[in-house]
Amino acid sequence: MISKPPGVEDIFPDKIDRWNFVLQSAFSVFQSYNYREIIVPVMEFTEVFARGIGTETDIVSKEMFTFEDRGGRSLTLRPEGTAGVVRAYVENGEYNRLSICKFFYCGPMFRAEKPQRGRLRQFNQFGAEVFGSFDPYYDYEIISMVNDISHKVGIDSFKILINSIGCRSCRSEYIIKLRDYYKSNHDKLCKDCQRRLETNPLRLLDCKNESCSSLKVNAPAIRDFICNDCKGHFEKVKEYLDLGNIAYTEDPYLVRGLDYYTKTTFEFVTDKLGGQNAFAGGGRYDYLVEQFGGKPTPGVGFAAGIERINLLIEDRPIDAKGTDVFFIHTGGQSFMESVALIRKLRLLGISCDVDPEVKGFKSQFKRAERENARFAVIIGEDEVQSREATVKDQKTGQQEKVPFEKLSDFIKNNK
Ligand code: HAM
Repeated sequence: MISKPPGVEDIFPDKIDRWNFVLQSAFSVFQSYNYREIIVPVMEFTEVFARGIGTETDIVSKEMFTFEDRGGRSLTLRPEGTAGVVRAYVENGEYNRLSICKFFYCGPMFRAEKPQRGRLRQFNQFGAEVFGSFDPYYDYEIISMVNDISHKVGIDSFKILINSIGCRSCRSEYIIKLRDYYKSNHDKLCKDCQRRLETNPLRLLDCKNESCSSLKVNAPAIRDFICNDCKGHFEKVKEYLDLGNIAYTEDPYLVRGLDYYTKTTFEFVTDKLGGQNAFAGGGRYDYLVEQFGGKPTPGVGFAAGIERINLLIEDRPIDAKGTDVFFIHTGGQSFMESVALIRKLRLLGISCDVDPEVKGFKSQFKRAERENARFAVIIGEDEVQSREATVKDQKTGQQEKVPFEKLSDFIKNNK
C-alpha cells in the first residue's frame, strides 16, 4: 500500500456535505457583498511569494514547497492566495484599470509546517481581496463578510482581534523602539529572532517560541506610535464595526505572519482549535501592488481555512444529500424498464441510482437507505405489466402506485 505524505488529507464523500455547506455559505455571502470569483494558478515563480510575503517570514524562509522546473526556474506551490491574486491583477491590464475590484477565491494552499490538528501541509482557503481604495469602509466590509460567513456556518464562539500596524512613515519610529526593547533582551531571544532583530524586528511579535512570546507583554505597542492618518483610519474602521454591531477586541501586538500589511490587521480566533487559534485572518496592504510593479493601488483582504472551520462545526448536523430515487428491480424486463425510466428522470434533473446486479429486495432496500434515497421505486413484474411503479417514501414508509408517465412529476412534487 502506498500512503499519502504527511500533512495532507483525503476528503471522502461523508465529509463533502459539510465541506460544500461551508463553501456554499461563503459563496452566498461573497455574492451578497458583490464579490466576483477569480481563479489563479496553484504554482507561481518563487519570487511572487518571496517579494509578496517577505523573505524573513516563517512562510517564505521555512515553509515553502519550492522546486526547479525543467528549465531551471524556481517555482513554488502557493502558500497563500493574496500574492498570486496581486500578481494576476498587475499582469492583467483590464482589471488593473478599473477603479475598484472585488475578488474572491478558494483552493488548496501548501505550507511545509509540522502537521497537527488544524495544521496541514496542504490545506484549503477561501478568501477575498479588494483593490483600489484607501477607504476604511473596505476594511470594515472585509471583516463584516468574515463575520457573516462565520455566523452562517454556525461557528458559535469566536472573537475578532483587530489592530493597526501603521504605514511606512509611522512604523519606522516604532521599529526603532521595538528594536531597542528587544536588544535589551537579546539573550532571551531564539536564534531566528536574534537575526530578525537586525533584518525585520516586527516579526519578533509573532514568534511562537515561548521565551520570545513572553517578552511581548512589555514590548512597546504600535498604537502609541501611529500617525494621525493611520489613527483616523483605525477609528473609522471601528466606527463602522460598531454601526454593524460587530464586536471586536483590540490586540495591540497583532502584526500577523506576513510582511505585506499596513494599517488594519485582524484575526478571527477561538479557543477550540488547540494551538491553532485562528480560523481566518487578513488586513490592509497598501504597498503590495506597487511592489509587484503595478501603479500604486491600495488593497485589503482576508483568508479563512476550510479545514479549521470544519473542525469548529463538526458537531453541527448537516443535511446529508442523497439520491432522489433508488430503483429496485427483479432483473430482465424489470431492469430494462428501470433503465429507461432512470434515463428520463435523469434528463429532467432527478438524481437516480440502481444496482444492475439482480439481488434480493432486502439488499436493494438496504442500499437505498445507505444512499440516503428520498424514494425507493420498485419495478417488479406486476409493475411492468400494469405500467405503474410502486413508490416508497423513505421518510414516512408509505407506498403508493404511480403510473410510469407520471413518475417524474410525482418525484418533483414530493421530494
Ligand atoms: P493566514 O493567516 O496565513 O493569512 O491564513 C489564513 C487562514 O488559513 C488561517 O487563519 C487558517 O485558518 C488557514 N491556515 C493557514 N495555515 C494553515 C495550515 N497549515 N493548515 C490549515 N489551515 C491553515 C493568509 O493566508 C493571507 N493571505 C490572508 C489575507 C488575504 N490577507 C489579506 N488578504
